[in-house]
Amino acid sequence: MRHFLDINATSPDDLTQILAEADRIKAARAGQKRGMADAEQVLAGHMVALIFEKPSTRTRVSFDVGVRQMGGQTMVLSGSEMQLGHGETIADTARVLSRYVDLIMIRTFEEGVLHELAEYADVPVINGLTNRSHPCQIMADIMTYQEHRGSIQGKKVVWSGDGNNVCASFLHAAGQFGFDMVFTGPPTLDPEAVFVEDARAKGVNVTIERDPVAAVKDADLVVTDTWISMHDSQSARERRHNQLRPYQVNEGLMKHAKPDALFMHCLPAHREEEATSAVMDGPHSVIFDEAENRLHAQKAIMRWCLGL
Ligand code: CP
Repeated sequence: MRHFLDINATSPDDLTQILAEADRIKAARAGQKRGMADAEQVLAGHMVALIFEKPSTRTRVSFDVGVRQMGGQTMVLSGSEMQLGHGETIADTARVLSRYVDLIMIRTFEEGVLHELAEYADVPVINGLTNRSHPCQIMADIMTYQEHRGSIQGKKVVWSGDGNNVCASFLHAAGQFGFDMVFTGPPTLDPEAVFVEDARAKGVNVTIERDPVAAVKDADLVVTDTWISMHDSQSARERRHNQLRPYQVNEGLMKHAKPDALFMHCLPAHREEEATSAVMDGPHSVIFDEAENRLHAQKAIMRWCLGL
């Protein structure tokens, strides 16, 4: 049994194997008519619990569709509707769910909940986002980069804006896939030092550059995310917007990247805030490929977890 809890908790060989499988799964569905299940019904007879303690569009729909395309069934649960939200321990919840389902995906606030669930579950657990990481998203992002531009190894990835949970998973990926990472944003919103140090310890260059133009120079990939994450207080909205406005990804900033640079955003986006529509809908953007690849990457992750 394998859990998929974080990119830095999964070996580079396994990550590479998952991405190769995701490419294969995507290719197998290419040209297939809508409404058809996968030829390989590997999840037939399997029940997958999808637990959401935070809102979701992409994660919820892509996991649900992915399981069904592979012949399995899903049970979508909200934390507040479960006893989990009313005092039952995570450990007991994990033990009980393990008697009913074959796989658990959870989106939660504190990563401690994810780790406790994984510790006590007898079935694989997948991290569908916590306040500190979002590994499924970054697997889709690496898949997307590589299908457009080839290997990401040695490339320059620039994160502009808030050093949030998605940025943290990019730093995990820098260490595992061997690409350089530049963070550009205000000092108060730097990624946690542990993420930067872990990536550096794996031999990759991680740079903090306050000037967004200098940061983006010759970038292969520019990434941003919403200025206020789901777990951030709305009371800080005005201050954060003022701090982050210089880091907006717009056409002027993208001109400093390589001519064939890609632009990514995991979505949902607040258009004209962290990125302009001209960039999001422009020639560098692969944002909807990223969203699609959640489906293929997660199918590969589920198969890896279950050894199928
Ligand atoms: N990118 C992402 O995880 O989207 P959702 O919050 O809609 O699931």
